[in-house]
Amino acid sequence: MAGILDVFKENQEVKEIDVSKKLRVGIVGCGWIADAHIAAYLKQPDVEIVAGADLVPGKADAFFKKHGIEGVKCYNSCDEMIADNEALKLDAVSVCTYNRQHAPCAIAALEAGIHVLLEKPFTVTTEEAVEVMRAEKKSGKILSIGFQPRLDDNMKMVRDVVQSGVLGKIYYIQTGGGRRRGIPTPFGTTFIEDKTAGLGALADIGCYSLDMVLNAIGYPKPLTVSGYKSAFFGQDPCYCNYVATGHPEYAKKFEVDDFAAAFIRLEGDIVIDFRIAWAMNIDTPGDTIILGTKGGLRIPSTECWNGSIGGDLVLYHEVAGKQVETKIPKINEKAGAPSNFDKKIRTFLDACKGGTEAPVPSSQILYNQAILASIAKSAELGREIEVEIPEI
Ligand SMILES: NC(=O)c1ccc[n+]([C@@H]2O[C@H](COP(=O)([O-])OP(=O)(O)OC[C@H]3O[C@@H](n4cnc5c(N)ncnc54)[C@H](O)[C@@H]3O)[C@@H](O)[C@H]2O)c1
Repeated sequence: MAGILDVFKENQEVKEIDVSKKLRVGIVGCGWIADAHIAAYLKQPDVEIVAGADLVPGKADAFFKKHGIEGVKCYNSCDEMIADNEALKLDAVSVCTYNRQHAPCAIAALEAGIHVLLEKPFTVTTEEAVEVMRAEKKSGKILSIGFQPRLDDNMKMVRDVVQSGVLGKIYYIQTGGGRRRGIPTPFGTTFIEDKTAGLGALADIGCYSLDMVLNAIGYPKPLTVSGYKSAFFGQDPCYCNYVATGHPEYAKKFEVDDFAAAFIRLEGDIVIDFRIAWAMNIDTPGDTIILGTKGGLRIPSTECWNGSIGGDLVLYHEVAGKQVETKIPKINEKAGAPSNFDKKIRTFLDACKGGTEAPVPSSQILYNQAILASIAKSAELGREIEVEIPEI
C-alpha cells in the first residue's frame, strides 16, 4: 500500500539556482510578516535586498538593522519608494502591508514594472482585486498571492487525490476551522480595525480554508453566497486575551468579524458549507469533507493557515459492492527541507526569472476574494446575494 501511496509524495529535492542574475528586491511594510519574508529571501543566493518602506517613521530602518542587513535604502511609504525606482531598479517587491494597503501598493509596483509577491488575503473588496489584476495585465509582470500553505506537500496531496477523479462528480464540500481563542492582536490592532484590516477572521484565515478546497477542485466560478458574520468575542472588553495582555480598550477598536459562516454555490452545481473563527466556544467546527458520487474524502480538522492537516486523509468508497475506507497517510516534512514560506519565496523568484506563471495566480485567488467579499456583503444585507465579478 505504501508503494502506491508514494505517488502522492512530492519530490522535496532542492533545484539548482542560477546566481549569475541577482534580483533586486524591496520590502513594502516592515511589520510582523515581513520578518518571514526577509528570513526566506536571505536564504536565496540570487537576491539582493535593496529597499524597504514603512509608514511608521524609523520602522523600516530598525527592521533591516534587526536582520543585520546593511545598505538598504529606506522610505516612509510605498509610494515614496516606487517614485525612486529609477535609482533603485527594483525587480521585485514583497507587499507585506495590512489588508487595506494591499491594492494600492500592488498597483503602484506593477505600474512601475516591478514583479509583486502580495500577501494574503488578495485584497478587501472584489473591485480592488480586479484593479490589481488590470495593472498586472497591463504590466505583464508576475503577481503571486502569498498562500504558502498551497505549497505544502499535504495540500498538494489533497489536490492530487481530488484531481485523480476517485471521488467522481463532486457536489458538496464542508470546510473551515479556526481557533478557540486566537484574535491576532499580539502586535497591535492592524488586524481588527476597519481602516487597516477591512475584514477579520473571514479573510485572515478563511481565505486558506477556501483555497484548500477550491484549489483541489480547480477553482470553479462562485455564483451565489449567503453569509453571516459576528464579533461577540472581539467586542468584549473581558475577552481573555485582552485581559491577559492588559488591553481591554481593543474591544472598542474591534470593527471586523471574529466568526463567519456561509453557504456558497459554485459553477458545476457544487455547494460549500463554510465557517471560520478567530474565537469560538468549541475546539473545532469539524473536519473538511468533500463528497462525490464515487467517493468521499475526509481531511481531519486542519490549521489551514499553516498548511497542516490534522491527520491521515480518509477516502470513503465502494469496492466490489463493499463500503470501504482507505487511509492516505499524512506526509511528514523531511528534516532540513525548505519550509512552505521558503518555497513561497523561491517559487516567486523562479517565476520572475523564468517568466513562467505565478505560483499562486491572481486569476484563481480572484474567486477566493470574491467569495470573501460577498460573504461580508451578504452578512450585512442579511440575505443571499449573487457574486459579481467585473471584467478584467
Ligand atoms: N502568509 C502568512 O502566513 C501571513 C501571516 C501573517 C500576516 N499575513 C498578512 O500580511 C499582511 C501584514 O500583516 P502583519 O502582521 O505584518 O501586519 P503589521 O501591521 O505588523 O505590518 C504591516 C506594516 O505595513 C505598513 N504599511 C501599511 N501601509 C503601508 C504603505 N502604504 N507603505 C509602507 N508601509 C505600509 C504598516 O505601517 C505596518 O508596519 C496582512 O495582510 C496579513 O494578512 C500573512
